[in-house]
Amino acid sequence: MRPRVCVITSLMVVTLLIILLYQSESFKDSDLTHLQSLGGSSPHVHSFQKCEKNMSAEQVKDFNSYPPIAKDVLYYRHCRHFPMLLDIPDKCGGAHGSSDVFLLLVIKSPAVNYDRREVLRKTWAEERLSNGKWIRRVFISGTMSTGHEKKRLNKLLQLEKRKYNDILQWDFKDTFSNLTLKQMLFLEWMERNCPHTQFLFNGDDDVFASTDNMVVYLQGFKRNSGKKHLFAGHVMYNLDPIRDPQSRYFVPEELFRPSVYPPYCSGGGFLLSGYTAMVIFNKSHSIPLLPIDDAYMGMCLAEAGLSPEHHIGVRPFGLQVKGRNVDELEPCFYKEMLVVHRMLSADMYTMWHRIQDPDLKSGASHR
Ligand SMILES: *[C@@H]1O[C@H](CO)[C@@H](O)[C@H](O)[C@H]1NC(C)=O
Ligand SMILES: *[C@@H]1O[C@H](CO)[C@@H](O)[C@H](O)[C@H]1NC(C)=O
Ligand SMILES: *[C@@H]1O[C@H](CO)[C@@H](O)[C@H](O)[C@H]1NC(C)=O
Repeated sequence: MRPRVCVITSLMVVTLLIILLYQSESFKDSDLTHLQSLGGSSPHVHSFQKCEKNMSAEQVKDFNSYPPIAKDVLYYRHCRHFPMLLDIPDKCGGAHGSSDVFLLLVIKSPAVNYDRREVLRKTWAEERLSNGKWIRRVFISGTMSTGHEKKRLNKLLQLEKRKYNDILQWDFKDTFSNLTLKQMLFLEWMERNCPHTQFLFNGDDDVFASTDNMVVYLQGFKRNSGKKHLFAGHVMYNLDPIRDPQSRYFVPEELFRPSVYPPYCSGGGFLLSGYTAMVIFNKSHSIPLLPIDDAYMGMCLAEAGLSPEHHIGVRPFGLQVKGRNVDELEPCFYKEMLVVHRMLSADMYTMWHRIQDPDLKSGASHR
């Protein structure tokens, strides 16, 4: 008697499971927008139509003489939505909990830069409480290469995400000219998952960032708490768009007509409030994407009537330390900095530990 009951019960359970599974599948298909609005920890689902090449781009003056990258920019600049391959919807503790994140580190990192991500996780980008405030980290990526290599790199990011829960990846080509797209996809993600995060550090994976100094600096804005404008970094004034099609920074008049860019912060690393991030995202809807990501952020700010602010501790072009026998990697030069340009992984590791040294004083260079 007993085994019989068991079999019947199991059969009923299995049938019930199948029905439930089937329902949730059809629910997914039929009501994407509803699922999306549920938010929380359900992964973001969106139906995507492949973004088509804009053939009218070929009518742009001199189009045929442009190099392939510049042609691609014009063909695909209207494409703003790409499916996510790796998502972390609960990164900030859900949209509502996201105000507990004081500083979100948003680091642009192509898949191939594995060693840089590893060293950042152990140094300035470590997730931790700093001066009583939470620091969280995401690396933002697209896809690279083709064929087997593309698969391998996607697998690498998958493995890293499983271990560290810090990778966001979208299905677009991770190229220099697509950095603006990457930035906007991140802001779209932020609006959905971390809208109340107080501040963000946005930067490259090869800079040295003193995240503890950043927390102290940001805590100085007593009445801000991320709800007011802040955009600070190394400000570039009156830069003119490069009109040489062979340059990586080429911007045809078709994309940007004025002779100078509005002021903007160099993209190596800058700080902004959650409020300003959302203002930029809102403004971006009405401004065609420009392939220079930092200049584009400046255009969005200008459109909102806001300006970036210069911070002396942000040195995307290095410290310019002068003099004979001076070690340019002397930690006391770095102690007061927020962001310094390109540093090798090994130097990054050493520097991060040396600036933690409580005895570190300028001038005490023989340690
Ligand atoms: C396609 O390209 C042409 C020429 O650059 C441009 O005027 C038009 O707005 C583009 N269309 C879309 C959908 O972006
Ligand atoms: C940007 O990404 C899209 C989607 O992968 C791709 O079609 C396009 O060629 C890329 N643009 C550039 C300039 O690399
Ligand atoms: C951005 O736009 C959304 C939707 O229009 C609006 O609710 C929100 O207040 C705007 N945010 C900012 C910071 O302007």
